[in-house]
Amino acid sequence: MTQYAYFNGSIVPMAEANVSIACNTLHYGTGCFGGLRGYWNEEKETLYTFRLVEHYKRFLNSAKLLMCNFDYTPEELRDITLELLAREGWRENVYIRPLAYKDDGIYRVWLHDGNDKVAIFSQPVSSYLGEKMLNVCVSSWRRVDDTAIPARGKISGAYVNSALIKSDAVLSGYDEAVVLNQDGHVSEGSAANFMMVRDGVLITPPITSNLLEGITRRSILHLAQAELDLEVQEREIDRTELYIAEEAFFCGTGAQVSPIGSIDHRTVGDGKLGPVTEQIRDLYFDVVYGRNEKYLHWLSPVPQLEVA
Ligand SMILES: Cc1ncc(COP(=O)(O)O)c(C=O)c1O
Repeated sequence: MTQYAYFNGSIVPMAEANVSIACNTLHYGTGCFGGLRGYWNEEKETLYTFRLVEHYKRFLNSAKLLMCNFDYTPEELRDITLELLAREGWRENVYIRPLAYKDDGIYRVWLHDGNDKVAIFSQPVSSYLGEKMLNVCVSSWRRVDDTAIPARGKISGAYVNSALIKSDAVLSGYDEAVVLNQDGHVSEGSAANFMMVRDGVLITPPITSNLLEGITRRSILHLAQAELDLEVQEREIDRTELYIAEEAFFCGTGAQVSPIGSIDHRTVGDGKLGPVTEQIRDLYFDVVYGRNEKYLHWLSPVPQLEVA
């Protein structure tokens, strides 16, 4: 199978999609990216991509934060992605990575007036955090603040913060970390949003808590209210609330719905998959795999090319 990429305005074999080591973004992190998934539905023999337009709206907003000059609309980027995936013909789950970067030399440490470009490629993906109950700590690192580097967009340079958080957690024996804001409230995970259940209420920090405005987060908040009749609160979360939550999980394109078994050596609930998390996870997977008719409008099926 040949892997392709959208690069310099056209779809080319992946091996031809290369940038120079003098690329500005490689040095200064002045790019942004997206992370999307396609789910292979074996029964329907269809690859369903999840909320492409919403992902590309956020992608273009991230690019706007970085003063990129693009004429693309989210719908155009969706169509390019579907064409790329159709050419590749995956029959398995895939991860899709759009990247915006400044293809200038190394002398300009600024955002404006750049030679801004978009690249997109995909690759097969398995589960990301795995299926087990996660053993989590609260990170000693703090989340980047909106007054320094905006967390609400997927800014390449900000992922130094995520990498510091993740490596510190993993090398200390944990699977993941919850990270706090500069003001000490819960923000999110290293690369996923955070939700918990207290007294049956689904609670997640608001988008002003220095977190990525997650598409999965928004989708789950909608599904929880509209389909599961759950009470939902977007509000600040204190660190010690983590210790007495009944359930907790990370959510995101990569993490999907990843239940948390313990936080800072305190068992969450009884340490097993809780009923609210289970309901949300099952519904989420039904939706992304195209098994829930009501939410097919959240999915774009990849067209199948005729084999000559
Ligand atoms: C820092 C961070 N927060 C949250 C998320 C979840 O966002 P989404 O649901 O849009 O994938 C991600 C996704 O990769 C992330 O990197």
